[in-house]
Amino acid sequence: MIFGRRKPLDAILATAEKKSLTRSLGAFQLTMLGIGAVIGTGIFVLTAEAAQKAGPGMMLSFIIAGAVCAVAALCYAEMASMVPVSGSAYTYSYAVMGELLAWMVGWALILEYAVAAGAVSVGWSGYVVGLIENAFAIDIPDTLVLGPYDGGLINLPAMFIAGLVTLLLVIGTKESATVNAILVAVKVAALTLFVILALPVMNMENFTPFQPLGFAGVSAAAASIFFAYVGFDAVSTAAEETKNPQRNMPIGLIGSLAICTLFYLLVAAGVIGSVGAQPVTDAAGTALEPGSRELSAQCAAIGEQAVTCSKEALAWTLREIGWPQIGNLIGLAAGLALPSVILMMMFGQTRIFFVMSRDGLLPQAFSKIHPKFNTPHVITIITGIAVALFAAFFPVGQLANISNSGTLFAFAAVSIAVMLLRRTDPDRKRPFRTPAVYVIAPISILGCIYLFFSLDEKSKQLFLIWAVIGLAVYFLYSRSRSHVGRGLTEVHEPEIHDIDPPVPGTH
Ligand code: ALA
Repeated sequence: MIFGRRKPLDAILATAEKKSLTRSLGAFQLTMLGIGAVIGTGIFVLTAEAAQKAGPGMMLSFIIAGAVCAVAALCYAEMASMVPVSGSAYTYSYAVMGELLAWMVGWALILEYAVAAGAVSVGWSGYVVGLIENAFAIDIPDTLVLGPYDGGLINLPAMFIAGLVTLLLVIGTKESATVNAILVAVKVAALTLFVILALPVMNMENFTPFQPLGFAGVSAAAASIFFAYVGFDAVSTAAEETKNPQRNMPIGLIGSLAICTLFYLLVAAGVIGSVGAQPVTDAAGTALEPGSRELSAQCAAIGEQAVTCSKEALAWTLREIGWPQIGNLIGLAAGLALPSVILMMMFGQTRIFFVMSRDGLLPQAFSKIHPKFNTPHVITIITGIAVALFAAFFPVGQLANISNSGTLFAFAAVSIAVMLLRRTDPDRKRPFRTPAVYVIAPISILGCIYLFFSLDEKSKQLFLIWAVIGLAVYFLYSRSRSHVGRGLTEVHEPEIHDIDPPVPGTH
């Protein structure tokens, strides 16, 4: 039954072929694209969270999470190059594993994209508030800039940036290659500056104890910090526009992941070595959970004097080691660069909803196109409201973990799909083939399972609740309305910015 309804791959591809984009991207541009999509809240903010979970052992966490992403990326790239259409993992799964699993993947991707956009909005808020407070010596009341779990009431700046990005998407903003290149430069410069200033004042004693909470702590931090690598799918989806994808895709994917991992390790070493990264504990010596009221209270009690208390870990570190102005500059860099990560995440989300709606699995009203802006404004606004609400009330780490649960599910599904398709459709043209797929794909699946189970209990439970809701929606609503189920195979590629308003009666 699971494999019952599949969307024929040929139907999906027929449209993609019509589009035929020029192959213009080389390895360098792909790597830039990857770095642009990847570096964000993960390294700028969640470093503090990882330290609270693993202490200096977070260095290992960065390596583990990066390795899982690298193998998943190689599987993703084969699918992306074969099925170069919108909707990424959802579309691949529809073609290979049938409608129910595709629905579940699409449903999980809502967690990946929308919740991640919320997490990055909260990260942005932390840096911008810190910048304003430090640069202009203004004290903004916590109640207005922190969610309830972090000791505030509502995170207004995070809501503001989510709203602003929604507006940009409604009027049809797409990030240009030039803007991406500038923002990559800003992010890389900020991290480089941080490393140059922090590494020389390193104190090796700060590295012991290396794993204060054991390997379980390292695994938990890896599951959180996985967020820092998410976004590389931007590279896989550019397969169609890549020159010599068999050579350039892996270079772009692995290259951007390797460069990010190197930066992350240097930054983590800089934080640990310069200001120390041991977890904050309660009076009994038990490490407190990141994003909990208990940790906020303990941080307040110690005058926020630990990097794990900071909402702007890198800026805080620089201020501590005597570079307050450069700390503010890092805040400025994060303030400028993080919105583009939110934009990419929300854009991804609207595309997934759009494709699911076009397939009949979500209400048709979702794929309504704005007559003037030619964007799917209805679904963009719904997504924006959801993102703003997540950002207003939840702590960044919790949002990142929930997002990771969905992403890990989707990556595992793609890794299974890539092997299945090798069996069921061996002759189809694969512009990029995953090397040693029967080794890489199982490692990717196991890695995703391991990281999923290393997440905190709350995130795992929320994932399960979300999955149950998803199944209910599918069986009560979507199944009977599915176009594939009703024999109406959709073949056009929903390229959001180029679409004409849907003609009634065509599907
Ligand atoms: N990898 C992206 C970030 O860390 C999602 O913000």
